[in-house]
Amino acid sequence: MSMIVRRLSRAATAGLVAAAALTAAAHSAEAADTLGSAAVGQGRYFGTAVAASHLGESDYAATLDREFSSVTPENEMKWDATEPSRGSFTFTSADRIVDHAQSQGMDVRGHTLVWHSQLPSWVSPLGAQDLRTAMNAHINGLMGHYKGEIHSWDVVNEAFQDGGSGARRSSPFQDKLGDGFIEEAFRTARAADPAAKLCYNDYNTDGVNAKSNAVYDMVKDFKSRGVPIDCVGFQSHFNSNSPVPSDYRHNLQRFADLGVDVQITELDIEGSGSAQAADYTKMVEACLAVSRCTGMTVWGVTDKYSWRSGGTPLLFDGDYNEKPAYGAVLSALGGSGGPGDPGDPGDPGDGASCTATYTRTADWSSGYNGQVTITAGAEPISSWTATVTLPAQQSVSSLWNGTPTWSGNVMTVRPSWNGTLAAGASTSFGFTAAKNGSDAAPTVGTCTAS
Ligand code: XIL
Repeated sequence: MSMIVRRLSRAATAGLVAAAALTAAAHSAEAADTLGSAAVGQGRYFGTAVAASHLGESDYAATLDREFSSVTPENEMKWDATEPSRGSFTFTSADRIVDHAQSQGMDVRGHTLVWHSQLPSWVSPLGAQDLRTAMNAHINGLMGHYKGEIHSWDVVNEAFQDGGSGARRSSPFQDKLGDGFIEEAFRTARAADPAAKLCYNDYNTDGVNAKSNAVYDMVKDFKSRGVPIDCVGFQSHFNSNSPVPSDYRHNLQRFADLGVDVQITELDIEGSGSAQAADYTKMVEACLAVSRCTGMTVWGVTDKYSWRSGGTPLLFDGDYNEKPAYGAVLSALGGSGGPGDPGDPGDPGDGASCTATYTRTADWSSGYNGQVTITAGAEPISSWTATVTLPAQQSVSSLWNGTPTWSGNVMTVRPSWNGTLAAGASTSFGFTAAKNGSDAAPTVGTCTAS
């Protein structure tokens, strides 16, 4: 979609967003068996980072659409993606994500306007005054294009140094414009889209430490001077070197007490099994314990596309199966459809279905061979049952790749070795029947699966 089209349709689009939000709210009244609907039940959103390039993959889109109520473009709104050369904006990939999100009633987090990383090479050499102009033009370009369509913007990302000093990180903005660049970015952002929540976002600020103290002091100062800031994002990338801090909840709360919303913006926790699940539970519980924690976002849908793929840090494995961490998050959100619970859409067995179709594969004067193909529905199955009713005169002399039981001329067939089928996969059983004077075809009844 071109910039012009989006601009002209902005009012109409805002209407669509409102309608979609209503749909999402209505959905929450149903059983909360997905992350997004369970979070809505808690007055929060549950989001994920999304890459436009994966939206065409059906399992990716299906998992995204089913489970999440908010998206953050993983790279598509960054400066290098949107303004690769000065003054010329490209929104094609970001628009794909925003359009997809809107069609599904999802919120969009804008990520990110001013950051030292993924910055096109033309920015760094600019002199101070030119850089200031370019920074404000970039904010206006992005926020103007998506005006009214973004729930929260990460206005400035990662402006503080790691380590003990609590100092600002060196960047073209910091080095040339000084401390005031953050304030200026927020003021420009407020004017560009007054409806969007404006966030400061960073990592290693998850517990109380020198870096989070420095961010805290900045937010406190902004609030006291009326600099527009609405929220602080905590990236929350964790692994064994950077574990979930024990004072995470306390840290969220102290920021909230300054009068800003807090959001968990890029959550991923390397690991697996029950240890990973327990860490995810802590994160959800921390957010739910802080009333101004308005939502959380995991940094990707599936481990296979994670920026930390070696660490399997997400809720769905590479085949989109729910991991223990998924069930932990869902139940921490008060959801009812975790693995093993009835109605969980990702659980093998729940909602299992199959179809059975018959063909005659061989025919001779006194008999024939029949074949019944069993195809699993949208979920994997571990067993199936098919009934075949034969014309009264006919009799079956042998059957393979299935286990029959008989009731009159109705044959009920279950698997021998071939019960387990992936979603959409097929197997078949065959039999030889004697016609005994009837050449009529047998009837295949309903297939049932578990
Ligand atoms: C990461 C993306 O996930 C990667 O695909 C990309 O190569 C680098 O950036 N902090 C942020 C995110 O704010 O934008 C980063 O995303 C991860 C760290």
